[in-house]
Amino acid sequence: MKFFVDTAEIDEIKELHALGMVDGVTTNPSLIAKSGRDILEVTKEICDIVSGPVSAEVVALDAEGMLAEGRKLAKIADNIAVKVPLTWAGLQTCKTLSDEGTMVNVTLCFSANQALLAAKAGATFISPFIGRLDDINIDGLELIDDIRTIYDNYGFETQILAASIRSANHMSECAKIGADVCTAPPKVIKAMADHVLTDKGLAGFMADVKKAGITIL
Ligand code: G3P
Repeated sequence: MKFFVDTAEIDEIKELHALGMVDGVTTNPSLIAKSGRDILEVTKEICDIVSGPVSAEVVALDAEGMLAEGRKLAKIADNIAVKVPLTWAGLQTCKTLSDEGTMVNVTLCFSANQALLAAKAGATFISPFIGRLDDINIDGLELIDDIRTIYDNYGFETQILAASIRSANHMSECAKIGADVCTAPPKVIKAMADHVLTDKGLAGFMADVKKAGITIL
């Protein structure tokens, strides 16, 4: 499973990239607004660091506007994936950009039918939002499982990019289901390293190091 980082914060991307944890980056208008940076400038900076796909989202709502914005975003770097919302206009834009050879990430997916349409429109990535479904008491992981089944039934090549990841548990469950990619905030990726028994075990070892006066260097 590939790891994308869901942030527009350069320092966070650099830190995880140095550890080999970054196969790509996703941004959205909220993350760009949070960064306080110009979208074109910060996206270019991210593309200079990461060689994998970097998602940059359009802000127009009509197909003509999305297409013009998507083409402009695609010019930033070869690894740009233009992100469009899962609306009819977004699907139209997805088809055109995909036919032009641009990677497209169709976002704000909340149903298997939406994922089916995105695959038919040639999406490179479909982004089902797990956390936001969980927020309204619908099992987000079940949607990932359903999309995996449907895509495998028919050999769709669209990659499942599980998004709105809120916990380390979401990451391991997505890996078990077979999501192609998970995009998560840096704090969630770091939380994957945490285990109470690791902390307890290390505390025990350190107590014995102190007791026995063990030194290495
Ligand atoms: O990739 C989409 C993601 O940023 C949404 O996450 O936590 O705002 O639902 P969240």
